[in-house]
Amino acid sequence: MKRKDILYAGKAKSVYTTDDPELLILEFRDDTSAFDGEKMAQLARKGRVNNYFNAFIMEKLAAAGIENHFVERISDTESLVRRLEMLPVECVVRNFAAGSLCRRLGVEEGLELAPPVFEFFLKNDALHDPMINESHIRTFGWATEEEVARMKELTLAVNGVLRELFAAGGLLLVDYKLEFGRFQGRLLLGDEFSPDGCRLWDRETREKLDKDRFRQGLGGVIEAYEEVARRLQIPLA
Ligand code: C5P
Repeated sequence: MKRKDILYAGKAKSVYTTDDPELLILEFRDDTSAFDGEKMAQLARKGRVNNYFNAFIMEKLAAAGIENHFVERISDTESLVRRLEMLPVECVVRNFAAGSLCRRLGVEEGLELAPPVFEFFLKNDALHDPMINESHIRTFGWATEEEVARMKELTLAVNGVLRELFAAGGLLLVDYKLEFGRFQGRLLLGDEFSPDGCRLWDRETREKLDKDRFRQGLGGVIEAYEEVARRLQIPLA
């Protein structure tokens, strides 16, 4: 399958049409951004690591019954996906306090959250992705009531699968963000799952092994992503 036209270029990925109107190509680039694009860098090997990482996770989720848009990896930095009608909503689950939750509620980083926290955010860069609730989603028509319930159900189901998967590699899944889209009357998981969109800490030392290394200028960003891949036995070639 070959790329046709560029449909969309995001901060870290580009999306291309193909000859098949139902299929798109996702290209994972080395570009890295944080704070709504205020901090940007090119990190060698990131596109490749994230493409392999995402393929591995999406296949695990599909095997666990969580339908998603992933079809197959077609090169080191590209994957074929189904074309979804994306909902403008981000779903976040938190198992430990970090990031914006700590800033918003004044809780200490690392506090275990039981039951996990679930939050919705609006996907809107100009507004800095504000937190929203189900009432906003319903009133502004960003998703139906049924889709809201399904997004919550699927996002929490992902937690069950991935907490265990990362635990086997000595890692804590601190939090993560998912996006969903409509496909032939169903709701499918879309976008990506990589250390760009989740937080992963070493279980013993709580060393950060995700994009917080870039956000916080800790260095060794891609080395950390590669370390996670090694622990999960994700082949990077
Ligand atoms: O920034 P915050 O603490 O709300 O992020 C929660 C989780 O969602 C983190 O894992 C972060 O990487 C992810 N996230 C994301 N894209 C966004 C916002 C958050 O991947 N636009």
